[in-house]
Amino acid sequence: MKENIKILVLGSNGQLGCELQFLSEVQEENVEFIFATRSDIDLTEIQALHSFVENVQPNIILNAAAYTAVDLAEKEQELANAINTLAPIEIAKICKEKGIKFVHISTDFVFDGLKSSPYLEQDPKNPLGVYGLSKSLGEDGIIQENPEALIIRTSWVFSGHGKNFFTTIVRLANEREELKIVDDQIGSPTWARDLAWFSFYAALSEASGLYHFTNEGVASWYDLAKAIVDAMGIECDVLPIPTKNYPTPAKRPSYSVLSKEKTRSSFGSSNNHWRDSVQALADELIMAEEDID
Ligand SMILES: NC(=O)c1ccc[n+]([C@@H]2O[C@H](COP(=O)([O-])OP(=O)(O)OC[C@H]3O[C@@H](n4cnc5c(N)ncnc54)[C@H](OP(=O)(O)O)[C@@H]3O)[C@@H](O)[C@H]2O)c1
Repeated sequence: MKENIKILVLGSNGQLGCELQFLSEVQEENVEFIFATRSDIDLTEIQALHSFVENVQPNIILNAAAYTAVDLAEKEQELANAINTLAPIEIAKICKEKGIKFVHISTDFVFDGLKSSPYLEQDPKNPLGVYGLSKSLGEDGIIQENPEALIIRTSWVFSGHGKNFFTTIVRLANEREELKIVDDQIGSPTWARDLAWFSFYAALSEASGLYHFTNEGVASWYDLAKAIVDAMGIECDVLPIPTKNYPTPAKRPSYSVLSKEKTRSSFGSSNNHWRDSVQALADELIMAEEDID
């Protein structure tokens, strides 16, 4: 590894961004992090990145920023496209021009879910909604402009920060006696902390191109919700329902498990099972609550 590596993180207040901030305080590599939020660099005004990069002189840019409102994207196509397609392509160009390594994060929603075995990096894409399409076009543009870029596809990201599936289930389970959660969409949950560590080491490696990273194991949203409620020790019944009983503006893939064979053979790393990561996060949140009390 080179010495004195500087990593500029975009989207520092998101789930992955927050976990990278946590990681930056405990990592023991010779790496300096610069964390940029939307108020430092708005991806809809990406030209501002040029002068920011001039000032900071990073070796690596890790883009954890994205438009992630999957349902709202159906109505905000232009904004989703600006943040998830146009901005990453522009970042890829800047990185290419200045010899900066670009690490970008993408999604399982680039696939249509019609496969019944884990999706490989090179499988044909066919996003079902605006969000997936905007991310998919972002991937294509990045690869075209900057083949040395590294794109990490992940899925079902959860954490203790902000509004996400984990924090929403905890809130609802505390408010209600019963939750009905879909059990016919299958994927792999991913703790943002595990993703942050993988992204960090992958960013420091020589790897380029597409890689998949999720926690081990597969789940339905029902499985994940039940595990969260159990791990948090909340008394609430979690009941399975079919997707047709919970219509959403954006269609989601019914199966979006990502194969991690390429990632395993390239990085040789073992990864946590999603159930262990759910328990670890729950333990951390319960302990933090006890500290406050
Ligand atoms: N969440 C998932 O389940 C999931 C699944 C698969 C892939 N991914 C991908 O994983 C990556 C990280 O996702 P995440 O869950 O950490 O996302 P997140 O929690 O929604 O965070 C996204 C971040 O992007 C920032 N952002 C949004 N619009 C911006 C703009 N115009 N300019 C600058 N920053 C902007 C947000 O800023 P504010 O804090 O100011 O709003 C936020 O900090 C994304 O690429 C996402 O597509 C996520």
